[in-house]
Amino acid sequence: METKKKGGFTNSIGFVLAAAGSAVGVGNIWRFPYLAARDGGGLFLLVYLVLVLTFGSALLTTDIALGRRTGKNAWHAFGSIKPKWSFLGKLTFLVPVIIMTYYSVIGGWILKYSTVYLTGRHHQAAQDDFFTSFITSPVSPIVFMLIFLALTALVVYMGVEKGIEKFSRYVMPSLLILIIGIAIYALTLKHTDASGVTRTGLEGLKIYLIPDFKDLTFGRFLNVLLDAMSQLFFSLSVSMGIMITYGSYVKKDVDLNRSISQVEFFDTGVAFLSGMMIIPAIYVFAGTEGMTSGPSLMFVSLPKVFNSMGTAGILVGIAFFVMILFAALTSCVSILETLVATCMELFHATRKKVSCVIGLLSAAASVVICLGYNLFYFECPMPAGGKGQLLDLADYVSNSLLMPVICLLTAVFIGWVIKPSWIAEEMRVGSNGFAKEKIYSAMVRYVVPAVMVILFLQSTGLLGRLIG
Ligand code: PHE
Repeated sequence: METKKKGGFTNSIGFVLAAAGSAVGVGNIWRFPYLAARDGGGLFLLVYLVLVLTFGSALLTTDIALGRRTGKNAWHAFGSIKPKWSFLGKLTFLVPVIIMTYYSVIGGWILKYSTVYLTGRHHQAAQDDFFTSFITSPVSPIVFMLIFLALTALVVYMGVEKGIEKFSRYVMPSLLILIIGIAIYALTLKHTDASGVTRTGLEGLKIYLIPDFKDLTFGRFLNVLLDAMSQLFFSLSVSMGIMITYGSYVKKDVDLNRSISQVEFFDTGVAFLSGMMIIPAIYVFAGTEGMTSGPSLMFVSLPKVFNSMGTAGILVGIAFFVMILFAALTSCVSILETLVATCMELFHATRKKVSCVIGLLSAAASVVICLGYNLFYFECPMPAGGKGQLLDLADYVSNSLLMPVICLLTAVFIGWVIKPSWIAEEMRVGSNGFAKEKIYSAMVRYVVPAVMVILFLQSTGLLGRLIG
């Protein structure tokens, strides 16, 4: 028997935009370009594209079909098929719980930058210690986080159709227009630096698009592959129960094959365009060295680039931070929705009540994460190198430890316990068939489990030790 929910997406476009809203986030606009820049541009792009079409597609299909067929959230979905596997539902639920604690903190940082640009203080943002002094200050990051969280909670409070779907319908197309506009502008840039060297946006585009096979060793290729793989996970919001929840809101007459391809296209398209806007801009103003700045790219390097653009930089800066604010909001909405929907089922409570309670609990947890940069400051060595604070630790546990394990267990469950045909049957409902069935089967049974083991070994630093 199928359990029908009260709420749900009105049609396939509503679903695609909401799912794309979850998928398109900080990962696409900030993480993807810096990984692409670090991993040799075109080579990373090529590897990523192949992975999206094979691996990514299999993971997204699994989550969404699982959600629609059971009509449940991750917490209950696995157990409703095989009671022995209910532990996997609970484990999956842990991921959005952890991500929620820090995603709204990053959302608060983005909100802060948006207001700095909107109030014309772009010079300030370009100063060397601006970012560090902001995140280490005691009150301001908490205030911005709380405002960001309140906005997120409001959308979730309004419900699936009137809140999430409606919000995504306006925000996602606006985001696309902003990003295309900035990407085109980035290509027209030209700058001569102090040593008299002139660089253009088009040269930057070449670096981004043309694969660099120079000194390509097996070890380096493996690194690119693993970077692309972990990026794919985070970017598509898979293996964390979110797409299971959204899948449970999809009507049976929606063609999932088509919707899944559209979500992938949207997510990959935005990532690609982000690279097209950020890499040429950084290249023009900071050269190839500027491109290796890594995580600090968005909050430290880009404001400097906007500052060097003169007056245009103010407008571009506003457009950029507002756009990324939209992207972060729709992603955070999907995380909170997963928590709220699950607790509504667990405690048989109303959406309004649960949204308020979970909103308050998340706020308390996020305050602790904010304090990780002052009151609770510590330096913890991370397996991948560098030192991390509370936020990095939460990110590491959810994305690098839990997600590969959950993905591995889910693949074993689908591939070997209930068999891929269970998913294939759902993919045929509302469509003419499931053309990718064979490749899907091979992916969940063999490729995904094997790759997850490698990814887990790499995240824990064990792979490096094994291959020396
Ligand atoms: N997929 C989002 C991104 O690319 C991140 C995200 C993670 C969203 C977890 C929801 C849940 O940034």
